[in-house]
Amino acid sequence: MAAFRRSSLTDVTDCRLLFLILTSLSLILFFSASTLSDIPFSTLAPLQSFIIGTAFQHPLDSNYLPSIRDSSEGIPPEAKRKIQLQKSKMAVCLVGGARRFEVTGPSIMEKILKEYPNADLFLHSPVDENTFKLSYLKNAPKIAAVRIFEPKPIPETESQLRVLTAKNSPNGIQGLLKYFQLVEGCLTMIQTYQQLNNFTYDWVVRTRVDGYWNTPLRPDSFLSGQYVVPSGSSYGGLNDRFGVGDLNTSTVALSRLGLIPYLDAAGFRELNSETAFKAQLTTMGVPLVTMRLPFCIVTERQYEFPPGRFGVPVAAMSSRGPLSGTKCRPCRVACEGECVERVMGWLEKGWSWTNWENGTMGLCNASGEWEMEWEKVYEEMVGEEMGDLSWKIQKMKMSECVEGFNEMKRRSGIWDSPNGENICKLGFRN
Ligand SMILES: *[C@@H]1O[C@H](CO)[C@@H](O)[C@H](O)[C@H]1NC(C)=O
Ligand SMILES: *[C@@H]1O[C@H](CO)[C@@H](O)[C@H](O)[C@H]1NC(C)=O
Ligand SMILES: *[C@@H]1O[C@H](CO)[C@@H](O)[C@H](O)[C@H]1NC(C)=O
Ligand SMILES: *[C@@H]1O[C@H](CO)[C@@H](O)[C@H](O)[C@H]1NC(C)=O
Repeated sequence: MAAFRRSSLTDVTDCRLLFLILTSLSLILFFSASTLSDIPFSTLAPLQSFIIGTAFQHPLDSNYLPSIRDSSEGIPPEAKRKIQLQKSKMAVCLVGGARRFEVTGPSIMEKILKEYPNADLFLHSPVDENTFKLSYLKNAPKIAAVRIFEPKPIPETESQLRVLTAKNSPNGIQGLLKYFQLVEGCLTMIQTYQQLNNFTYDWVVRTRVDGYWNTPLRPDSFLSGQYVVPSGSSYGGLNDRFGVGDLNTSTVALSRLGLIPYLDAAGFRELNSETAFKAQLTTMGVPLVTMRLPFCIVTERQYEFPPGRFGVPVAAMSSRGPLSGTKCRPCRVACEGECVERVMGWLEKGWSWTNWENGTMGLCNASGEWEMEWEKVYEEMVGEEMGDLSWKIQKMKMSECVEGFNEMKRRSGIWDSPNGENICKLGFRN
């Protein structure tokens, strides 16, 4: 395994040269944009969005934006929407344990955080021997709050015991409560940060540390007054592996513990995570939209293959997708084409089923451990550059870890976590 491979010097020089050329080209085009207004915009549109895309990333250029936008009805609506979103107040909640963050982290960075560089990161994660990997997030464009905590048992209330069921939850009701607490804790962090800084967010993106994104989160996933969740994997309720909405809808969606007494009063019983999620949104009258979204949840757990009717399909991370939060791992595809049709056709539609049509999904035989060659499979999928990034995260030194967390702490508004030294120690015991 060629870990820590570096791009050759010539590659770097080429890149810089290309960058220079593109920058000067975009400046020329930028200043002539107004005089080009006679030319039909359909031919200019792709260029314009490129120019605006680059201009926007430079803070000094933002003054020029309004004049460009006003004179440019030809910008594709999606690009326009993205510019609006990039100017909005956005929070990204990232919750969960760091287990395989070396394979998910770089994708979250590229496909969400750098896609919306205005977004404030809120990280909420229980500390363990893998938490050192999160120090990679020092590279996030903006960091608002970090809460890394020692997991403790959560007291179970009577209403929680009435409303929730331990069925199908690997760690019983405690498992559900811990997940709910992770999610709701992120809302609390957002509220605290808003109060401290006297503003409110327009958008909240709720996503997971174990999510692997193969294409960017698109602007059409942001719908005012509605809550957007992935389709499929609904387990009798609503897929709760990701969500995006404005502050109002997100406040309902993220109040996973706080709303349980209301569900109790409304007579709900024996809910799993997904049915509880659906109940809390419908009870509070939040309009829902499901859409296919380009991520999967990377899991090390083993699942029967082929899955039974209520079993769990595990997709190959290399699937074209969108996988809408299906469980996945890096594997050589064990089942594709007609095999996928057979397997997915057998699954219960309202349970673990998800969209698989048109070759968007390949399946793994996940009945054993990750295959020995998974790093090779992964690198073939993401390319050398991102592969190298992963191995760097996995193999970082204690000192890099500590420096990473120190920098994160320096950059974040709220740091409610052990110091870097104590977090890193857990990952470097031997
Ligand atoms: C918070 O912002 C509002 C309006 O944006 C302003 O009226 C108010 O004075 C601010 N409060 C503080 C404490 O800065
Ligand atoms: C959010 O809810 C408040 C109170 O219910 C309402 O006044 C406000 O208009 C809502 N905002 C949006 C963007 O829907
Ligand atoms: C699959 O492709 C066909 C033909 O291109 C299209 O009509 C159909 O809507 C697609 N199905 C899905 C689920 O995308
Ligand atoms: C799945 O993999 C296991 C080994 O991990 C093997 O024993 C089994 O036969 C495989 N199942 C199928 C259907 O290929």
